[in-house]
This record gives sequence, structure tokens and C-alpha cells, in this order.
Amino acid sequence: GRTAAVIPAAGRGVRLGPGAPKALRALNGTPMLIHAVRAMAASRAVSLVVVVAPPDGAAEVKALLDTHALPERTDFLVVPGGDSRQESVKYGLDALPPGVDIVLVHDAARPLVPVDTVDAVIEAVRDGAPAVVPALPLADTVKQVEPASEPGMPEPVVATPERARLRAVQTPQGFDRATLVRAHETVTGNVTDDASMVEQLGERVVVVPGHEEAFKVTRPLDLVLAEAVLARRRA
Ligand code: C5P
Repeated sequence: GRTAAVIPAAGRGVRLGPGAPKALRALNGTPMLIHAVRAMAASRAVSLVVVVAPPDGAAEVKALLDTHALPERTDFLVVPGGDSRQESVKYGLDALPPGVDIVLVHDAARPLVPVDTVDAVIEAVRDGAPAVVPALPLADTVKQVEPASEPGMPEPVVATPERARLRAVQTPQGFDRATLVRAHETVTGNVTDDASMVEQLGERVVVVPGHEEAFKVTRPLDLVLAEAVLARRRA
């Protein structure tokens, strides 16, 4: 069967500061979304990319895809997104044609993921894992806190998970299509990644090595880093 990539790109990007929806902001003159689309289409295994656009921005996103050079061998679809990332991914899944059996879900906000990482995720799904996430060890120690007893008071620390066993997870996350669709039909509640929905089904989720260039562009400093990575690639 085919492998498709769903790119949720409907977020406002509030943490990045005021401006256009995050996915449409430029990195070295090219919208972040176009970088992300090219990163998925760079994999020879990916034959379809579904972009989930801001609800009122589907036409604009279609026009963007038409005006930027993209691989001939890849099909592209644009669908409008929803209020939450989860809802946006669901609309992307709903647009997949028959014959697609592996689905990647990739944040538009991770425009620089290398193709080797994309291929490693696909390979692990092909090898039988229902869900695969690229992940990196943490540099920082992580603390679990409780809400402060009253506003303005410091938050008490309640636990320090063993850092060596923690991973920061990235995208693209790869899935057996039927498993991800079932997760979206079954799991409710707020989630911050797609694999956690599959975990809630009790299905096996595994990690493959992530890449430092697959970081998420979230805050203004991330834009500086992303443009530096692009400059280094061109050097
Ligand atoms: O907000 P967060 O950083 O988790 O967003 C991750 C990705 O999800 C971004 O690419 C963003 O555009 C997308 N998103 C979406 N629909 C929403 C909210 C976020 O497609 N309603």
C-alpha cells in the first residue's frame, strides 16, 4: 500500500508572537509549511501529502503549494483544519483515499526534519510497529510540579523522573492507518501527540532515533535557529 503524510498546519502560532498563522511564516523567504511539505515529499516512500490548513486559509495554502516547486511524483491535498490539533489531524485522516496503509503525522512547525528520520519512521512501521515516534534524550532534567497553593506562590516540586529514561518526541510520527483511525474514533480528552492516543488503546508504540534538526519552531528564538540550520545546509 501507499504511505501518506498528514501535516497539521492550522495552528495560530501564538507563542511565536503576532503575525500570520505559524505555518505560513517564512524561513529564509520560504513559508515554513513549504519546507515541511518538501521534507515529507523528500522520502521516496511518501506518495501523498495532505496539508491541514487554517479553517479560513485553505485557498491560500492551495495557492502556496501551486507556486512552489514540489516533486512530480507526489500528490497533494489541502483540507481545512479544526479548533484543536487533534481535530485537524482527524480531518486530514478523513481525506485519505483507499490504498493508503501507512500514515505519517508531521507538524508544519518542524520544517527541517531530515529525510533519513522520515525514512526510519516509515521503516519501523513497515517492520510491524503500529505506532512509531522519533525521539531524543533530554538535555535538561525534568521536574513534575503541582499547582501553587495560591496565585503568586511558587509551584512545589513533587517528582523528578529518571532523566535517562525520558525522551523528547518529535514528528513525523508513523502509524498503521487502521490503528490511528481507531484511536481517533475511540480516544477522547486532550492529547499533545498522536502516539499517546494509540498508547491509550493499549497498542505498542516504539521510538526510533530523532534528529536535532527536527526541533519544533515554537518561540522567536527557534526562528533564529531554523534560519541558521538552513544557512549551514547551503554552505
Ligand atoms: O500548538 P502546537 O505547537 O502543538 O502545534 C503543532 C502543530 O499542530 C502545528 O503545525 C500547528 O499548525 C498544528 N495545529 C493544527 N490545528 C490546530 C492547532 C495546531 O493543525 N487547531
